[in-house]
Amino acid sequence: MFEEAQYFAPVAKREDGSVTVELASSHPGFADAVYRERRNAIAALALNYQPGDPVPHAEYTEEEHQVWALVSRELAAKHQRYAIKEFLDATERLGLPKDHIPQLQEVSDRLYPLTGFRYIPAAGLVPLREFYGVLADGYFHSTQYIRHHSVPFYTPEPDIIHEVIGHANTLASDRFAELYRVAGGAARRVESEDALQFVSKVFWFTLEFGVMREASELKAYGAGILSSYGEIEEFRGMDIRPLDLKAMGTTEYDITKYQDVLFEAMSFDQLEDVVGSFWATCDDDSIARLLADG
Ligand SMILES: [Fe+2]
Repeated sequence: MFEEAQYFAPVAKREDGSVTVELASSHPGFADAVYRERRNAIAALALNYQPGDPVPHAEYTEEEHQVWALVSRELAAKHQRYAIKEFLDATERLGLPKDHIPQLQEVSDRLYPLTGFRYIPAAGLVPLREFYGVLADGYFHSTQYIRHHSVPFYTPEPDIIHEVIGHANTLASDRFAELYRVAGGAARRVESEDALQFVSKVFWFTLEFGVMREASELKAYGAGILSSYGEIEEFRGMDIRPLDLKAMGTTEYDITKYQDVLFEAMSFDQLEDVVGSFWATCDDDSIARLLADG
């Protein structure tokens, strides 16, 4: 899940109970009435979801399953080259289907026995504190729709390919799952909006767009890079900066284009020492001190 409002199509629920996803005119599915109906139906599933229920079954077309099969095959090849070993091992452990879009319930059923994480459906944007907060309890809010089949390698919004190929594979690692949990704990602990933004930006520059040195090569571990067919080929050419909490917590980013500033961990141990420890212990005061510190 990306956390910025501008990236999500707004979802409106009317008094008669009908649900409409308002796609922008630039969205590849804008003129496809059948796709839009399906988007409305999938958003309604999430809006009607009650915690504790099984995740409702979403209907996909054969064309959409083919999008999954194509993108998942192409990304898997790129992962071999560009993803850190911890991610590759976790991907193997999770064993997602390659030929069809998995239901979110199936993702949960695979993930829960491994690291205790479960997927819950989101219609669109989830407020930051709620999105991050439930990570502490092992819940991951996920969109359920897939990108429009006319442009399989592009999506203007986070879809199930991002949520599952990017995040669920990552969450199948014990070490990553712990980082997500402590990020959730941090979001619950901090009180001010500024501190929450800081926690969220550190998440953005690590678990969404983090890169890591591995055997002298620059690899990716952020779900945003690992789920993007184009971005995964570009990250090595970006402005790569050392892992630094204050820099990550204060650097501005533009969600609508490739991330051109990235932060590099020298190892998984360093990521856990610097970022994991920060999330595990931070509060409004410690963040205020970081911000005030030269
Ligand atoms: Fe995400």
